[in-house]
This record gives sequence, structure tokens and C-alpha cells, in this order.
Amino acid sequence: MSRGSQDAPGGAGSAGRAKEQVGALKFRLRSFGRVGSTNDVARRLAKEGAAEGTVVVAREQTAGRGRHGREWFSPEGGLYFTVILRPELEASKVGMLRVVSGIAVAEGVGGRTGLDPLLKWPNDLYLGGRKLGGVLIETQVSSEMIALALVGVGLNVQKPQLVLREEPLKMATWLSDHLCETPEPRQLMLPVLKSFSRWYARLLQGELGAIKEAYGRLSALLGKEVKAVEAGQVIIGKCLGIDDEGALIVQTKRRKRARVVSGEIWSWS
Ligand code: BTN
Repeated sequence: MSRGSQDAPGGAGSAGRAKEQVGALKFRLRSFGRVGSTNDVARRLAKEGAAEGTVVVAREQTAGRGRHGREWFSPEGGLYFTVILRPELEASKVGMLRVVSGIAVAEGVGGRTGLDPLLKWPNDLYLGGRKLGGVLIETQVSSEMIALALVGVGLNVQKPQLVLREEPLKMATWLSDHLCETPEPRQLMLPVLKSFSRWYARLLQGELGAIKEAYGRLSALLGKEVKAVEAGQVIIGKCLGIDDEGALIVQTKRRKRARVVSGEIWSWS
């Protein structure tokens, strides 16, 4: 396996390997120290033939990416990992993949910590009104099917010592803000992977009703007045939930139902 300049201090030999069968997915862990982005390492491994279920986890990222081209602040003390998937799913189901990944992070973190994080559509994890984590999914599509999906999860665990001056970080929260004893970042990964494995299996089996029900239970938006932006258009109305493709359904004042497919939620109340 070739490794580039992003790899951990300590060199290529420092990347650990372990195998774990969890539910539907057989996870193979590839552990790194410092990388650019675990999604980039995972893409490279996928190109080299890494199997579905390969998980790339790093202690630190120097070029972590968020959704909509944002940076993901990734110092030591957080959890950063990417799961390689080769799902037999139509490209139209990528929205549902986003949804099940959000459910898995919320369930896994909630189960391990006893906290009750909620989801802002599609898969931002919120606690006490502040952002705790998020998921970046990057896909390769071939003949209308998802050939490869990289599910990158970032979770704020231990609040860093340095002063967080940057604007988006003022709206962030860390598990250590809410817990007397904060788990090690990696202790949170297995519960998330276990939950992901279950929900991924349900997605592949087409159990969309169960997924929508679970998402409704964990949603911070359901029944709330939301302001969304989709393809440059502002949509304001009551959040009714998600549809079979994972799009957010908003009932506008004019009693029209609008779908938010790839946009962003700006606010909710
Ligand atoms: C978001 O909320 O904008 C998504 C954040 C996703 C961050 C994770 S950290 C692991 C993986 N590698 C990346 O570069 N990004 C994702």
C-alpha cells in the first residue's frame, strides 16, 4: 500500500490494523496519527481496492473538510473517521445514506454517554443548541448507482485548550462541556459503527419507514418553523419530516410542500 505525505508522524508503519465483525458490516480498522483528511486517505485506500467496511481513523486532521466546502477543525482530542462503503444503492438514495449516518452518530453517542444529541437535517449533531459533530459523505456514481461512498464522521469530544476565536467555533460544543468524565474519542467510535451497521443494513433492505421513524425521533427540526436555502431560494415553513429519498419536507405558508435536497437549514424555532 502506498502512503503519501498526509500520514501519521512515525511513518507508514504506525498505521494500525484491526478487524471487527459488527452486524452487517465487517469493519477493518486502519489507525493513523495525523492525516490531512480521513476521507482522502479512505479514497486512496478504496482506489487500491480496500473492502467495504474499511474504517480510517486518525487522531488529528490538518485539512479536515466539512459540508458545503467548509473547514472541519480537527485537533487532537476529537474523533475523526471515515467508513468505506460499496453499496448496491441507486444514486437517488444518497440522501437516505446521509440520514442513516446521522441516526448512527446520534444513537452511538447518546448510547455511550447518556446524553441526548439531536439531528439538524441532514446529519449535523446538536447538543444544547450547539453543534457537536457532523458527517461528510462523498460518493462516486456509476450508471446511476453509488459505486463508492466515503462516510466521514467528525465529533467534538475534548474541548481544546486554545482560545477558539473563529466564528463557527463559537457555535460549537464538545462532549467535555457536558460530561464529568469524557470518554477517549475512540471509545465513541464502536457504538457509532455498531449503530451504523444496523441502519445501513435496514437501508439496503429498503426499510424506509423504520428509518424515517427513527429520524423523526432524533430530529431537532420536526414540527418546528425552519428557514432553509435550496439552490439559492429561501424556504420558510413547518418541518414535516423527510421523504423516501431523505429530502426534508417543509410546509410553506402558501400550503405548498417544498423539498430541501442539498441545501442548508439556516435556523429553526
Ligand atoms: C459537517 O458537519 O460539515 C461535516 C463534518 C465532517 C468532518 C469529518 S472528520 C472525518 C472526515 N474527514 C473529513 O475531512 N471530514 C470528515
